[in-house]
Amino acid sequence: MIEQTAVASKLEQTYQLRCVGCGQIAADMRQNLRCLSCGELLEVIFPAWNSAPRLPAMQPSALKATWKQRRGSTFPQDESGVWRFRELLPTLQPGFEPITLREGNTPLYEMPMCARIAGIEKLFAKHQGMNPTGSFKDTGMTTAASFARQEGYRWVACASTGNTSASMAAYAARGGLRSLVLIPDGKITWSKLSQSLDYGALTCQLKTDFDGCMKVLNDVVRRMPIYMLNSMNPYRAEGQKTAAIELLEKLDWQVPDHIIAPGGNLANSSAIGKAVMELHELGIIPSLPKISVIQAAGANPLVRTMRENGGKKLVPVQAETMASAIRIGNPASWRKAVRILERTGGTVEDVTEKEIALAKAEIGAEGIGCEPASAVTFAGLKKLVKSGFVKKQESVVLVLTGHVLKDAEYTLKFHRGDLFEGDLDQKESAALARQQRAPIVLEATTDAVLKALEQAEKNL
Ligand code: F0G
Repeated sequence: MIEQTAVASKLEQTYQLRCVGCGQIAADMRQNLRCLSCGELLEVIFPAWNSAPRLPAMQPSALKATWKQRRGSTFPQDESGVWRFRELLPTLQPGFEPITLREGNTPLYEMPMCARIAGIEKLFAKHQGMNPTGSFKDTGMTTAASFARQEGYRWVACASTGNTSASMAAYAARGGLRSLVLIPDGKITWSKLSQSLDYGALTCQLKTDFDGCMKVLNDVVRRMPIYMLNSMNPYRAEGQKTAAIELLEKLDWQVPDHIIAPGGNLANSSAIGKAVMELHELGIIPSLPKISVIQAAGANPLVRTMRENGGKKLVPVQAETMASAIRIGNPASWRKAVRILERTGGTVEDVTEKEIALAKAEIGAEGIGCEPASAVTFAGLKKLVKSGFVKKQESVVLVLTGHVLKDAEYTLKFHRGDLFEGDLDQKESAALARQQRAPIVLEATTDAVLKALEQAEKNL
């Protein structure tokens, strides 16, 4: 039997939870993570930052120096690429330690080949797939799981397209919590499913899609004291903010012109936007990058929302895409994402399945690789350059969200030419064929291998 050992605690003085809809401040943390007045999502705010004069430790030069100095430390919180920036995060109460797998600290890669393909001069990838469980979810899970433990919950839960569940299961296990995973049956990749099993989650495959899993989960948490770790949990966004802080630190606080993120439930793009707005407010960066969101054409509710009603009312869709991580038709954080697009001057774009496949192979050929959901960013960038939204001389950072090994089946099918099964015209076929490298089965002889090498040289 699940027992509730403690419920909501009074919030720490250093931060507050505010409704993104009506602006009301929440008194404590309720299980459904929504505003009790209007039902909208909550976000963390830091009122103390606006008190004048600002504390010396919160001055831009002091913060930058503190964060830099921690890079040489072996204290677990300093080794984490999330908690290293703890001045910008909500604080755990005394006696509570973060649950950390030393997440964050992910690389910022230059992408010269992809830059040439897109027709721009400076392109980077912030690779969040290089986190402990292979996706960006770890950065938000370290914060949200730590608060779940502080609240005294024994069980945590999420609905997921696979990465949240893998991450949640790992952090729950590290923190001594039990975890419940609801995933759409047959619609997540084997690697992601295997992760939640290995990390010890109670894994339920429901005969529905992600949006259906979400509905069931909302009901479950109303009836049992289980803490929801989906991305509408405001503590998730706090950890996910650090991807943007890290990338700006790596660029020596020089602001890129554009940051481009994939969009599913729309929490990640919102978190990145929150980070840059807070850094700007604190005087750490002088201007804001434009933050744009790319979706798969078959799962494009934000794109439709922006194009059809200027971001006023969500246009949900029946989602369908092979980029299974972002197969989401009714995104929870759409309002937060619209706000980020408006405040930073970013835009939205959607890309076809073929554009995603090609972009993923091009990122792979750069020696970087990512899962299909991450590749929408590069496919989208190409379109944004063509439309003139991104200019040739502007600098761009793509947020790659998942590791290439998260969906090996997709990659194999692509290289074997099985991904689209005849559904290609001649031009598309030729474009994809240039990136396809199917494995070759040979006799076990030196001659056979030398012949293969010779052929490969000719094909260059
Ligand atoms: N990229 C990957 C690899 C993802 O797993 C997700 C979301 C996204 C992008 C989109 O991020 O939802 O914040 O807009 N995956 C969730 C999951 C839904 O359950 O793993 P978002």
